[in-house]
Amino acid sequence: MSPAISHKPRQLHPLAIRLMHWTNAISVIALIFSGWKIYDDAVILGFLHFPDWLTLGGHPETALQWHFLFMWPLIINGLFYVGYGIVSGRFMRKLYPITIGEIIATIRETLSFKLSHDDIRHYNGVQKLLYVGVIAILIIQVWTGLVMWKPVQFSELLAPFGTFQNARLAHFIGMALLCGFICVHVLLAILVPKTIVAMVTGGPPEADADADASVAHPISAH
Ligand code: HEM
Repeated sequence: MSPAISHKPRQLHPLAIRLMHWTNAISVIALIFSGWKIYDDAVILGFLHFPDWLTLGGHPETALQWHFLFMWPLIINGLFYVGYGIVSGRFMRKLYPITIGEIIATIRETLSFKLSHDDIRHYNGVQKLLYVGVIAILIIQVWTGLVMWKPVQFSELLAPFGTFQNARLAHFIGMALLCGFICVHVLLAILVPKTIVAMVTGGPPEADADADASVAHPISAH
C-alpha cells in the first residue's frame, strides 16, 4: 500500500493545538483562582488563606459556579487534546521518549548556560517531562474534582483515595503542583519569546525528521 502523503509542511503548532492550548490555559487559570475562593471557606493549611483580590467569584457560592463552569472546557478540551495527541502521533513525536540521560543533559546545559534555544521545534528532556507531568496532574485534578462533586455517583473513582478528605488533599496538592508548573512554564516562555509567538502564529514547519509519525512508526501509518 502506498498512501498519498501530503508534503505540505506541518506547522510546529497546528491551529488545533493552539486553540486547545489557550483554551486549556484560560480554563486552568480560572479554575485555580475560583478554587482559591472555595478553599478559603474551609482551609486545609491553617496558615494559608488567599486574599480576595487574588480569587475569582467574590463569594464561595459564586466561586463554585465559576469552578463548575470552567471544568467543562477543561474536560472537553482535554479529551480532544489527548485524543489528538495520540491519533496524530504528536505525543510520540514531541514527548517520547523521555530518558534520564536527556534530562540530566538538559540540566547540565542549563547550569552551564549552554542550553540552546535556537531550534524550538524540539522539546528538551525537561520540557517533555514537564508537559507529560502536567497532563498527568490535570487528569488527576479532573478525577478528584469529579469525586468531590458527586462522591456517591463517582464512588468507584473515590475508592483509590479511601476517603473524601484524601481526595480533597490530592486535589489541593495537584493545584499546588499546577501553580509550580505555570510559574516555571511562563518564565521559560518569556525567556524565549519566540516560543510564545509560535504558540500564537503556529511557528516554523516541523523538522523533516519528525514531520510525519509514519516515518518513525510505520505500523501506525494508514
Ligand atoms: C495555565 C496552564 C497551562 C498549561 C497546563 C500549559 C500546558 C502546556 C503544554 C502541555 C504544552 C505542550 C503542548 C504541545 O506541544 O502539545 C504547552 C506549550 C506551550 N505553552 Fe503552555 N500551558 C499553560 C499556560 C501557558 C501560558 C499562560 C503561556 C504563556 C506564556 C504558555 C505558553 C506556552 C508556549 C509558548 C508553549 C510552546 C512550547 C514550548 O516551546 O515550550 N502556556 N503548554
